[in-house]
Amino acid sequence: MSDYEVGMVGLGVMGQNLALNLDEKGFSCAGWDAWPEPVDKFDAKAEREGATNVKGFKELKDFVASLRRPRRIILLVKAGEVVDKTLAALLPLLSKDDMIVDAGNEFFQNTERRAKELALHEIRFFGMGVSGGEEGARHGPSMMPGGDRAGYDAMAPMLKKVAAQVDGPCVTYCGPGGAGHYVKMVHNGIEYADMQLIAEAYDVMKTLGGLTNAELADTFSEWNAGELQSFLIEITANIFRKKDPETGNDLIDMIVDAAAAKGTGKWTVQDAAELGVPVPAIASSVEARILSADRKGRASASKLLVGPAMRAGSTDKKALIAEVRAALYAAKACSYAQGMNLLRAASNTRAWGINLGELARIWKGGCIIRAQFLGRIKDAYDRDPALGNLLLDADFQRELAERQRGWRSTVVQATLAGVPVTAMSGSLGYYDSLRRERLPANLTQAQRDYFGAHTYERIDKPGSFHTEWSAK
Ligand code: 6PG
Repeated sequence: MSDYEVGMVGLGVMGQNLALNLDEKGFSCAGWDAWPEPVDKFDAKAEREGATNVKGFKELKDFVASLRRPRRIILLVKAGEVVDKTLAALLPLLSKDDMIVDAGNEFFQNTERRAKELALHEIRFFGMGVSGGEEGARHGPSMMPGGDRAGYDAMAPMLKKVAAQVDGPCVTYCGPGGAGHYVKMVHNGIEYADMQLIAEAYDVMKTLGGLTNAELADTFSEWNAGELQSFLIEITANIFRKKDPETGNDLIDMIVDAAAAKGTGKWTVQDAAELGVPVPAIASSVEARILSADRKGRASASKLLVGPAMRAGSTDKKALIAEVRAALYAAKACSYAQGMNLLRAASNTRAWGINLGELARIWKGGCIIRAQFLGRIKDAYDRDPALGNLLLDADFQRELAERQRGWRSTVVQATLAGVPVTAMSGSLGYYDSLRRERLPANLTQAQRDYFGAHTYERIDKPGSFHTEWSAK
């Protein structure tokens, strides 16, 4: 056939799976990749799965010619330079009103630049975050499109069908410009924090509580049946049960303790600093990955830097597990509050009109951070769409108040034992800073004025003041 409704550029596993998902939902899909091997794999997989309305192309011009006009092309290639190169190759083959959707994890400013450049050629372009990994792409991801509104409207019926379905399709128009990719970036920032908090819970329960991998698996399974229910907790329980076929050991113990990152977490922290929004849970998660990556440095420092003696199993296991559970929930709430605040600030600054409650809804299914918890966030924004900080919602206020003893105890015990819990304690510091009417920033202002005449404000009268601090 030569009238495909949609084209997929980039036939890695994500591209292949999204194409097969499109086919399954009734949209014929042509695929193209710069390399021949993924194209062959795609055709073979399509045949195995009985997908009849998909076909892989090795020549870009044949691929473009096979698409119904105006063409709709989804890019699933590596963010950055590869996107620019792909667009440059596609452009001469496209016609007015053709549409390109970049579904990769791209930096939002690159998306805005490309949209402007392509608009000069009357090509519609929008960025769309896609979450859910390989499984999500195949059976229903959560999608965060933003940019050209008419382009989105034209694609919406298709996107709504391929999306995960939880309280409606898990896709919503996020806003103009780079809003879609921005929303996905913050989703990933929250994902980093979620993962780091779970990792810290693991470390505390293993190092302080002496839990075995089997006990950890059972603990995470139990948590997954309650208020912490989420995809990430569910897979964590499964991970602790997995055996290494080569050695017979628990696979988790065979994995190198150095975390990689592709950039979305870092961008979240960078833009948060740019907009002046505190995101300590996310920032400490990014830093935890950076710290983990320097294995050599840690190996030598571990021989030089002294800490307390760590004795596994020295605490009451059951009590510790309950406290860590409370700490994980409370710290998680802080990290979502930080992510949501960042989204609100970005939306206000860039006039994107992001609807936070709607984002919580589309994150309930398909994506990596999907969780029962998002229903509570959605309810909070439904109660008050202008909610200043998620933690100020009455339900969250109560939930954190109930958990703060366990949260503090976890941070204290971990700290005394020398177990780093930077995301849990960063979140606690955030909570405590928010609820302190007076912080020690008066001293910071005095110092700034002392060494740089930066002036300060007084509590008893308006205006800016400077003091000759060293004058006798
Ligand atoms: C998702 C994931 C996905 C991917 C990230 C991981 O939502 O499906 O976030 O986008 O796994 O790129 O990012 P790091 O490699 O930086 O951990």
